[in-house]
Amino acid sequence: MNRIDVSDWLVDDQEPLGKDPKIWLTPNGEDLPIGDPSTSWLFKSAKSGEHPNGRTYRRYDDYVEVIVHELASLLGIPTARALLAVRNEAEGVISRNVIRDSHSALTGDMSLLGTPGYVSCSGDDRVTPRPGHNLPNIAATLDGLKGPSNTPYEDWSAIDVFSGYLMLDALIANNDRHAENWAVEYSMIDPLDPDRLAASFDHGSALAASIEDSACRKKLLGIEKFCEKGLSKRFENQRQTLVELWRASLDVSSDRAWSWSDRLMELDESHFERLCNEHQFVSEPRASLMINILKVNRRRILECSPHR
Ligand SMILES: Nc1ncnc2c1ncn2[C@@H]1O[C@H](COP(=O)(O)OP(=O)(O)O)[C@@H](O)[C@H]1O
Ligand SMILES: [Mg+2]
Repeated sequence: MNRIDVSDWLVDDQEPLGKDPKIWLTPNGEDLPIGDPSTSWLFKSAKSGEHPNGRTYRRYDDYVEVIVHELASLLGIPTARALLAVRNEAEGVISRNVIRDSHSALTGDMSLLGTPGYVSCSGDDRVTPRPGHNLPNIAATLDGLKGPSNTPYEDWSAIDVFSGYLMLDALIANNDRHAENWAVEYSMIDPLDPDRLAASFDHGSALAASIEDSACRKKLLGIEKFCEKGLSKRFENQRQTLVELWRASLDVSSDRAWSWSDRLMELDESHFERLCNEHQFVSEPRASLMINILKVNRRRILECSPHR
């Protein structure tokens, strides 16, 4: 898969949230493989990790972001479209804005502010664990909100769709679903336009993206343990596994949310191999690790799915 060159795209804004510098860009030029050219995209440079001895290495967040979007699309889970990109020789990923024109976003963090017991996760002085970032509070905050725009879930309750995000997290081993990694979209001009859960974004640290290439084989040998250690680190109860967190979300959702694991059951595992192997720059051990994370977590999810 080729990287799309976004060096001459127009810079709209800096993104203030998140750890590393990021910019919002608008496409420049015609015949770009991106659909609507008026939508903005967030460019995120490839990240580096640091070995305990100080040596740095390339992380794979950019590839993972793309693979997860493609996988989520197969499951019908709304996520920001993501494409590999390069800007002035910096490799990275572009993530399509999930917020429509004339609309704005409230992060989960902002939505939860004011909820008794909730402590904001914005800023550098955030505490671990995340007090108040729990399913009852999230369900209460999303109460009355609808699913993402331009998706088949526009009439769904937001929490039923959020449950799908948690199943995706459990599948891809994403333990970074803090309250600034989900958002609510609202209209800035039409008070009758319902507030909606925005499509999911920022899956770059899933699928062991932060692990060095040379460590992938070893992780593969202990893959069951690795997957079981996928905990809900960004929630109040950090000891819950990601699978348990997803399962618990069914208790605060309607029966519609059960359909996410039905879709996973119907998805042939050969898709995992195709998606993880299609990027020629991903090494064989890394591709194998990602495929096996998906296989093991799929089995773990289906073992406790309600229709089992
Ligand atoms: N596709 C997107 N559409 C709209 N907003 C986004 C999108 N991706 C990220 N954001 C916003 O930008 C912020 C930072 O981006 P994110 O992808 O979360 O980067 P980081 O890896 O630094 O956390 C998010 O908290 C969110 O508010
Ligand atoms: Mg983020």
